[in-house]
Amino acid sequence: MYSLIINGGVPLHGEVPISGAKNAVLPLMAACLLTREPCVIRNVPDLSDVQFLGRILTSLGAKVRFAGDSVAIEANRIQSFADYDLVRRMRGSICLLGPLMGRLRRAEISLPGGCVIGSRPVDLHLKGMRALGAAVAIAGGYVKARAKRLVGAEVFLGGRAGPTVLGTANVMMAASLADGVTVIQSAACEPELVDLANFLNAMGARVSGAGSPTIVIEGVKQLHGAEHAAIPDRIEAATFAIAAAATRGEVTLTGARPDHFHAVLDKLQEVGARVDRREGRLTVKGTRELQPSDVTTQPYAGFPTDAQAQMMTLMTQARGISIITERIFESRFMHVSELARLGADITIEGPSAVVKGPTKLSGAPVMASDLRASAALVIGGLIARGQTRVRRIYHLDRGYERIDEKLRRLGARVKRVQE
Ligand code: EPU
Repeated sequence: MYSLIINGGVPLHGEVPISGAKNAVLPLMAACLLTREPCVIRNVPDLSDVQFLGRILTSLGAKVRFAGDSVAIEANRIQSFADYDLVRRMRGSICLLGPLMGRLRRAEISLPGGCVIGSRPVDLHLKGMRALGAAVAIAGGYVKARAKRLVGAEVFLGGRAGPTVLGTANVMMAASLADGVTVIQSAACEPELVDLANFLNAMGARVSGAGSPTIVIEGVKQLHGAEHAAIPDRIEAATFAIAAAATRGEVTLTGARPDHFHAVLDKLQEVGARVDRREGRLTVKGTRELQPSDVTTQPYAGFPTDAQAQMMTLMTQARGISIITERIFESRFMHVSELARLGADITIEGPSAVVKGPTKLSGAPVMASDLRASAALVIGGLIARGQTRVRRIYHLDRGYERIDEKLRRLGARVKRVQE
């Protein structure tokens, strides 16, 4: 197992390239199951989650070849059974349900189970498949779905915490090969779904309205192979932007799409960081005096839950009290007790964390619990005086491509060591 050793207190300076979006690439790879013909996805980040989905697709019978930042997938003959041993390691594998139903009219996928950020139910995914005419049962820990034919329908995908991202992706993919027209109401509006719709349309699907709460899919008989470049990772970009502000550095993000994370950039400006978007370049500059702020996570285009932990670290440096409220996942505060080990003053009150600042953070050993909590701890380590050891960084490697290298290029004193 690897750890990151960070000697903090150095402002980040320079340019950082933003990689392709993990959360776009996973459903794009799954969508390749919808056709027998070869597909190529470009701008694919080298991440363990991406490699892992590649292994699951291989286990289903697809040929998967990674080369540079591309992956070629050919799903000529596939089977419908995704085993527990593979699926349990990656919750995102639920995005195989829609493509398997679209292509084979049957799917058997192990239920991914909960994770540290919450219980992570799949009721809306199942509702979507049932609306298209599938019989769905849960037996022996597996979702078992079957249909003689899939028939377009109207389906409302709003849940307790708002729309579902991968649930929307699943219905879009299955409905692309259904008979007739499907209308998804209260669809998730995340840019990753627009990217998926663009890829599906390049494969011959007829999807319109992606990016809005109403998505219309006219089913077609079959899809063909296509090539597509994934969008840049808005959460990686948000993480580097927050790290620049937190270390009082100045970082230019290259290849990012500022329009995909307005909510984060707007918050950074509100708390006193400078955000400059001139001539296609996005530069974030930290200032000495940071203001406190209240942040509530929301579905897109609101403040993303995937940047909540990182923002919390930043708020430990603001003068005054900030209240950070998590509205998407019920227990996404695992970073709070680890940030306290660095000296942060944070208390949890129901769905909110009350952050008192500014606190001088000092280096300590901390344990990463999930991907974004890990990113928050890394930012904490970059601010802290002295040495921070972030343990269990396999979480980071699931979602941040070569984060240690990228940070080093920005001047951070970071090294990866084996435990
Ligand atoms: N929900 C239900 N029923 C369902 C599905 C979801 O109640 O059937 C609830 C969830 O419990 C949660 C809310 O709806 O309260 C939103 O969950 P959503 O389904 O949108 O999450 P997801 O699609 O499983 C994706 C990202 C997550 C990101 C969320 C929210 C991928 C692979 N994962 O998950 O990314 O946090 O959307 O934006 O796209 C990460 O990258 O660190 C990560 C966790």
